[in-house]
Amino acid sequence: MTSNLLNTTEKSYDRTEWRNGYQSQPTEYDYWVDDIEGEIPQDLQGTLFRNGPGLLEIHGTPIRHPFDGDGMISAVTFKDGKVHFRNRFVQTEAYVQEQASGKILYRGVFGTQKPGGFFNNAFDFRLKNIANTNVIYWGDKLLALWEAAEPYRLDPKTLETIGIDYLDGLLKPGDAFSAHPWIDPSCAMDNGEPCLVNFALKSGLSSSLTIFEFNLQGKLLRRHSHSIPGFSFIHDFAITPNYCIFFQNPVGFNPIPFLLGLKGAGECVQYQANQPTRIILISRRDKDVLPIMIETPSGFVFHHANAFEEGNKVCIDSICYDSLPQVDPDISYKEVDFDRLDPGKLWRFSVNLDTKTVERELLEGRCCEFPAIHPDRVGRNYRYLYIGAAHNPTGNAPLQAILKIDWQTGERQLHSFARQGYVSEPVFIPKPNSTAEDDGWIMLLVYDSSHHRSDVVILDGKNIEQKPIATIHLKHHIPYGLHGSWTSECFV
Ligand code: CO
Repeated sequence: MTSNLLNTTEKSYDRTEWRNGYQSQPTEYDYWVDDIEGEIPQDLQGTLFRNGPGLLEIHGTPIRHPFDGDGMISAVTFKDGKVHFRNRFVQTEAYVQEQASGKILYRGVFGTQKPGGFFNNAFDFRLKNIANTNVIYWGDKLLALWEAAEPYRLDPKTLETIGIDYLDGLLKPGDAFSAHPWIDPSCAMDNGEPCLVNFALKSGLSSSLTIFEFNLQGKLLRRHSHSIPGFSFIHDFAITPNYCIFFQNPVGFNPIPFLLGLKGAGECVQYQANQPTRIILISRRDKDVLPIMIETPSGFVFHHANAFEEGNKVCIDSICYDSLPQVDPDISYKEVDFDRLDPGKLWRFSVNLDTKTVERELLEGRCCEFPAIHPDRVGRNYRYLYIGAAHNPTGNAPLQAILKIDWQTGERQLHSFARQGYVSEPVFIPKPNSTAEDDGWIMLLVYDSSHHRSDVVILDGKNIEQKPIATIHLKHHIPYGLHGSWTSECFV
């Protein structure tokens, strides 16, 4: 794929071409990839796992929002200069039932309704655990995550679904477990060992946040719960050595249309522009310390890039929207008018722990989403950020580029796949024995609309503007995904 330079006043994308990336991929593949431009580095060994909606309709009925799509896992394995691809659907209970029955049996959180209108949807509150948001390999388990329910465990070699995983009894049926865990690369409480930190949110008139920390073997190290006033919609969080940090977005929840079966629960979340965002800091060290809560002017945050402590300050870098992109039940997500939505922009929130005040600063005004950093810098001050970005410096548009930002020099590098390419979340993979923070590979899936297929692209972390180190052409497309992760383990 070539990246054509475009005049910045014209649109960098074609909506019809963009939309084709939201076609279902019902086929499960398993093959060694032989169509490769460039060369796979010999010392690149490991597996990229990705999750995202694989089906955008069920037996011909389109789902209302991609967030309702059944989770499909892709595994891209790198071994001795060769690449293997495999994808499989997570065989959730609901997926198996719906595939067997030939119709939609569950309502989706983001508005997908069963056929039959009001009478068939009202008072049906069964959640469809679609396991479609993230996938991690930790403690010898491959887990597909969806924030409102329990993880599904898969065989990392075959991607076969083993079943719901209750994390050695830590979760009960119906419990939530967020799709956004962080790995603390060196936890002072555990003699510098890495640990996995995640949360579970139970939301109602007030909300409960539970923090979990696991060691490398997947055994529980710490768990504590905290009550937070008000309804919460919290998708992601951030960590530092001492804190878990949450942004309680200013939203209200009107459950009536959901209860009556007219809307999905996600569509009943309303953004409240006149209300502040609440930043919540929960101590990782002392579970008895009350959470610190500080208000800041409004904005909506899905994802955080990183957070770090500096003296009496905690800084959080987050992608912030001026308003929540409201799901309009009458307009298909495929018809979205990008120009009418607020772009995500990168902000730094600096919390002063002494004065309990927040300063915020716009770091990057280009439309961006899906950040990635060096895994050793998680929770620490860091120099380089890589993030999905729009081709043009202003306005809202699909993500077609990767942007690298050097916080020390302010230098920006952009690798654009416009006009035919659409990017997904990048991962940063450090090179073996590297010391420089940007000495690694940036890996991502790019949907190439000109061939209706996806490429796995590897960029040089030091200079992403160069020609890709390798472009691996898959034989087919993978619908736009959500999140994924890298492990140095190979399973083929
Ligand atoms: Co997310």
